[in-house]
Amino acid sequence: MSHGTKKSKALFERALGVMVEGGSSPSRGPANYGDYPLFIERGSGSRIWDVDGNEYIDWMLAYGALPLGHAHPSVVEAITGAASGGSLLAAATEIEIEVAELIAGMVPGAERVRFANTGTEATMAAIRLARGMMGRPKFIKFEGHYHGWYDDFLVNSHPQSAVAFGHRNDPIKIADSSGLNRRALDDTIVVPWNDATAIERAVIDNRGQIAAVITEGVMANIGVIPPQDGYLKLLREITRDNDILLILDETVTGFRVAPGGCQEYFDVEADIVTFGKGVGGGMPVAGFAGRADLMQGLEWGGVLHYGTQNASRLGMFAAAANLRELNKDGAAAFTHLWDIGETLCSGLRELFATEGTAAIVQNVGPMLQIMFTEQERITDFRGFCAHVDRVAYQHFAWKLFDHGVYMSPSSALHSVACVAHTKNDVSSTLAAVAEVISG
Ligand SMILES: Cc1ncc(COP(=O)(O)O)c(C=O)c1O
Repeated sequence: MSHGTKKSKALFERALGVMVEGGSSPSRGPANYGDYPLFIERGSGSRIWDVDGNEYIDWMLAYGALPLGHAHPSVVEAITGAASGGSLLAAATEIEIEVAELIAGMVPGAERVRFANTGTEATMAAIRLARGMMGRPKFIKFEGHYHGWYDDFLVNSHPQSAVAFGHRNDPIKIADSSGLNRRALDDTIVVPWNDATAIERAVIDNRGQIAAVITEGVMANIGVIPPQDGYLKLLREITRDNDILLILDETVTGFRVAPGGCQEYFDVEADIVTFGKGVGGGMPVAGFAGRADLMQGLEWGGVLHYGTQNASRLGMFAAAANLRELNKDGAAAFTHLWDIGETLCSGLRELFATEGTAAIVQNVGPMLQIMFTEQERITDFRGFCAHVDRVAYQHFAWKLFDHGVYMSPSSALHSVACVAHTKNDVSSTLAAVAEVISG
């Protein structure tokens, strides 16, 4: 980084004395940031400031956890107002009913809601519920989809050389981590996404053994890859026809692409939806929801899901404020999110075309990613692994830091628009990108 980041460097050296890679997740460390990460001090609206006083337009927004932006006044007021009544009661509270009612009013099919703290907990519980209710061990998970760091999901999510995964008709399972339960992946069937033949074959080959298919509605952990026309509906049909549950992981897309997430936007009905990042206004709030008869499986811990921190008092007040803001004025927030997302994407496309840069921009409304590639489109994980220059993207993102723009430095992640972004933020970002690509 060529702008002044001396304090970040010093903090990183200090952090190494007590923390692995100087932080709490590999994605916040050298793997994504090179020599040392920027230490961020605070955020407000669409902006963040690092410890050296540099200001950035933030398009990463805590990996998508802030649809309203940083420190939205309603969320701040909700948290500060609630704090004096205690942060956690771990007992039944009225505020959790209110948040569940807000979610039930927005998310199709959310007849019953259960709160957790992270997307990982939510998807883990959803799979357990599906297995428990269907009495079957296996589930289908797609290549390049990330559902959190639970053992059973950690396969074929990290980009590798495209040939490493073998033929698409019989994907080689590559575990994403050491230390997994040795048998954790035995019941995980891995299938290429956006491929009708592949899902049909997997269902036939494993007839009677599959409890659920779990899918992201839009791939958001391998850049941004939308479903092909009709693909989510096809998943719905195949699962319904074969008595298999469909779990839609809306951790990223929920409360972002539409009030009812991908179910609403792509007109598809899931049996269970999971949500996370978009709910808590930055507080750790996640959960899952679905048909009452299915969710009833959680009763008395029959399918066990516990959690001391579930529906924390502060988290629930923040979530209520966040969801109310998103719903306000006929859910006008979503029109703004789409407008900002589309304006930024068309500006970027125009710039790349004018400058002759081999890059494309893929988006679904407010979620977008720039991919350095000669291809016109990337439609799946294998295409991403084979054709996207991940190193070029990382250098591009680091250079943007020097120009006051903060996009996720990982090509496998994405950028998001928030309610606080303005058209000025878009034009400043485009000006910064123009400088970076022209020299
Ligand atoms: C689609 C999806 N599901 C689940 C998760 C896990 O969420 P968390 O990081 O809150 O555990 C993520 C996180 O990025 C995600 O993108």
